[in-house]
Order: sequence, then C-alpha cells, then structure tokens
Amino acid sequence: MADDVRSDEILKMAGLVGENLGLHFPEDRLQDLFHRLGPAAPEMGFTGAAPLVRALISRPWSRGEMEALAGHLTVGETYFFRDDALFQALREEILPSLVRARAAEGRPPRIWCAGCASGEEPYSLAILLHTFLPPELRRGPSILATDINPAALRKAEVAVYGEWSLRGTPEDVRRTFFRQVAKGRYELLRTIRERVTFQPLNLARDAYPSLANGTNAMDLILCRNVLMYFGPALAGEVVGGLSRALVEGGWLAVSPCEVSQVDHQDLARAHAGEAILHQKRTGAARQGAPSARPPAWEPLAAVAPSLPPLNHEPPEKPPVPRPAPAPPPSLEAIESLYRDGQYREAAHALSLGARGAGLLARELLLGARCYANLGELGEARSWCERAIRADKLAPGAHYLLATILMEQGREHEAADALRRAMYIEPGFVLAHWTMGYLAHRRGEASEALRHRRNARALLTGLRTSEMLPESDGLTAGRLLELMDLADPVVAGSRAVSAAPGGGG
Ligand SMILES: C[S@@+](CC[C@H](N)C(=O)[O-])C[C@H]1O[C@@H](n2cnc3c(N)ncnc32)[C@H](O)[C@@H]1O
Repeated sequence: MADDVRSDEILKMAGLVGENLGLHFPEDRLQDLFHRLGPAAPEMGFTGAAPLVRALISRPWSRGEMEALAGHLTVGETYFFRDDALFQALREEILPSLVRARAAEGRPPRIWCAGCASGEEPYSLAILLHTFLPPELRRGPSILATDINPAALRKAEVAVYGEWSLRGTPEDVRRTFFRQVAKGRYELLRTIRERVTFQPLNLARDAYPSLANGTNAMDLILCRNVLMYFGPALAGEVVGGLSRALVEGGWLAVSPCEVSQVDHQDLARAHAGEAILHQKRTGAARQGAPSARPPAWEPLAAVAPSLPPLNHEPPEKPPVPRPAPAPPPSLEAIESLYRDGQYREAAHALSLGARGAGLLARELLLGARCYANLGELGEARSWCERAIRADKLAPGAHYLLATILMEQGREHEAADALRRAMYIEPGFVLAHWTMGYLAHRRGEASEALRHRRNARALLTGLRTSEMLPESDGLTAGRLLELMDLADPVVAGSRAVSAAPGGGG
C-alpha cells in the first residue's frame, strides 16, 4: 500500500465501495483498489488517491462521486455481438419465439440490458430485433439499456464506434447498419439507435423492477459481465431484482463465467444450443420448485406459461406436497407477495372468493400493478380502470394508468391520464416528470422543459431522502440527479434519456 494511506483507511474505503457501488474488493485486492483511485482523483477534484480516500471515508458520497468512481473501478470493455453462443441462441431460438408471442399482442418484446457500458450490447440486440420484427412493429423504443456510468451512456447515445468495437460484427451487418463517418469510425443508423432508451441505473442502489423507470415486465434481460464485480450477497440481491423484473417465461442471460452466481428459486437453468440461460418459472412451476416460503392457501391449479420453455434442468429437490386449502390471505400478506415478486400469486389471491366481490380501490390498484409486472397489459388496464371507478380522486391510479397506456404505445391517452393525476394532485412530481418525457418524445422541446422545470421546482421543496409516491422507492434526491443528466440546459452537456415508465 502507498505510504500515505493507512491500511484501515483503504479497508474502510473498500467497504464503502461495496455499499455504494456493489463492487467487491477483498483484502488481497486493496492494492489494486488504491491504484485505480489514482486516475479518478484529479477528475473528482483531489490531488491524489490518499486525499480522495480520506475525504470519502469521512462523509456520505454524492451520486456524481459514485458514478465517477464506477467509471474507474470497473472495466467498460464490450463489443458488438460479444459471445457467439449467446447470440446464436438469441437469433435461432429465443428472439423468434419472443417476437412471435408479442407480435400476437401487437407489440415488440421488452428487453433490458443492465450494465450496458457504451451501448454495443443493446445495439446488437436492436439489430437482431430489426431483422425479426414485422415492419409495423419496427418503430419506437423496445430496449432499455442502463448503466451506472453516465459517461459510458453518453458515448452510447452518440453511437459512433471504432474497429475494436466492431471486431465481432459480420461484414454484411456492418455494411447494412453502419455508415462510415471518418477513418475507422462507424455511426450506427438512426433506425436502430431509436430502438434503445439509455438511462442511468445503479444495480446496487436503485429500485427495480419499477413501473416508474420502466424496468418491469421484461421478456429478456441481459446482465453480462456485471455480476462478477459484486460480492455474493449483493449478486444474490441483484439476481432477485432481475428475476422480479421478468415476466413468467422471460429470460435472463449472464456471461458464462457468471452462471454459477445465479441461484434463485424462480429461475430455471436452461440450455439453448451452446448457451446457458435462465428462464423465469411460471406460478405453477414455482410450486414444484424448492421454495423458501410456500404459500398458505390453495396454489394455482395451472398457469399458462406466457413464453415457451426450452430444455430446463430439473429442480434439485422433489416437489413439495400441496398444502390444505386455507382462507384468502390478508391484504398485508398479498402486499408482501407483491414485494417478493410473486405477482401471479398476489393477483390470484386478490381474485379469491369473498375478496373478489368487493375489492377496495387499494386492492384493485395492487392487482393492476401485479398484472403490469406480469406484462399482461390488458388485464392491468382493466384493474386500473376499476380502481379509478372505485376512487376517482386517487392520483396514483391515474398515474399508473398512464404508465400502462405508455407501455401500450397509447401516448395521447397516457398524457390525458397524467393531466388528470396532476389536476387532482398538483404536486405530483412523477406525473410532471413523465409529462416532460412524453413532450420530449413528441419533439415539443419547450413543453418538455416546462414540465421538467415544474418537477424540479416541486422537488426542491422535499428532503433528498424522501421517497416519491408511486415510484417504487425512487427518492427526491435521485430524481434530481436523473434530471441533471437528462436536462441539457441544467447539466450543460449532452443528455442521457432517463425515461420514466415504458422505457423498455
Ligand atoms: C464489462 S462491462 C459489461 C458490458 C456488457 N454488458 C458486456 O457484457 O459486454 C461492465 C459494466 O457494468 C457497469 N456496472 C458496474 N457496476 C454497476 C452497478 N452497480 N450498476 C450498474 N452498472 C454497473 C460498468 O459501468 C460497466 O459499464
């Protein structure tokens, strides 16, 4: 270790890096941590790694500091079509069946690249999707791409790449989807770029799945070469969050060296060609899988899988026997199922016998959230409309309806629902923010700015740690930071999209 920093100081710094960024530096890598902090120091306003360590172990970190450090402590190495086996499985098995299933509902699949670095991975998917989607579904965003590092996201939005990023890209793909803009520099075509929405998200700290940031009801999640930076406990939590963000039958792909880090009762390991992925079990299949918490009432007889399964490895233990029927669970028990990501079970419990007849607005809204997270938008909308009929003056119900309508591509109706939410609750920050996003998408720059300014003004009256209503855990402080990244006037640099709801 360097002479001017004590070993207890760098050890404390390593602990804070783990807490704030999820990055795991065990004792034998403390030296490596210290060396990596050297280049970060001047960018963060310090004269060297030692003063940086001393400052950061003595006070909370700002989000900007977390993001700057993430850029230096992780490797953003990535390239187009990285991992032949995975892309072959996506091309030959997974994407065609996802596209077929979702085209029947008139929409493209929802895809999330978590830890997307400078964009090569989500853009590779966008190119593949483009070749599979029927022409009428080739418009609008359908891939959400997130990373902790805003500099990487800005590079992704520019979408100009060098030879090194394209080293795994077939020549015909290069010719069809890129335009040479300088020697050795290639710009991705706008039609492909438009399919991807980039958004900052810290997997170790931010909330997901969440309707507010569009990380819900995913058909496919790629989170590759990211878990390997995390310690076992955090990796487990991240996998749990990603699993809850998937629809039943949806897919999770990690890199081959991270497969052993995915150990979750709701995810079945599946082989697709040479690739190993994980598929979210259906409600019924979960009853047969080893479960930490079996439900206390009659389980679902059968739940139709929304997506076809591949060759699953069987659960390691035999199925648990069916418990005896029990009375419908309390609303608190159902809310806890919802928090655990057991959306199907929660929705089923809400519909049970006595409860089904006279559901309260709060219960109807919970049902709508369950179906929105299951990706069953028609059902989600119908529950949400019932919630509004039961209590017309609940701003949250109008906001939820807006997020569902956005996912359905009904942006005008979504704007109407948001207006109603703001009329009932003029201080509804997320409704203003989402209106700004819709205006931005329509190309109405001054209108977008007006709504974002309203949202910003409302936020300044709140404590930074205050949770925003209907946000699934987004704090006022974090939304302000997202605004700084998204609003070029305030941030003084190129914006990152930071799309609320319906981003994926
Ligand atoms: C090696 S790159 C992986 C890029 C791409 N997924 C691939 O496999 O080619 C790892 C990325 O994970 C991101 N990352 C690290 N910690 C993160 C966190 N806590 N939340 C979100 N992203 C994180 C880094 O910023 C970096 O861009």
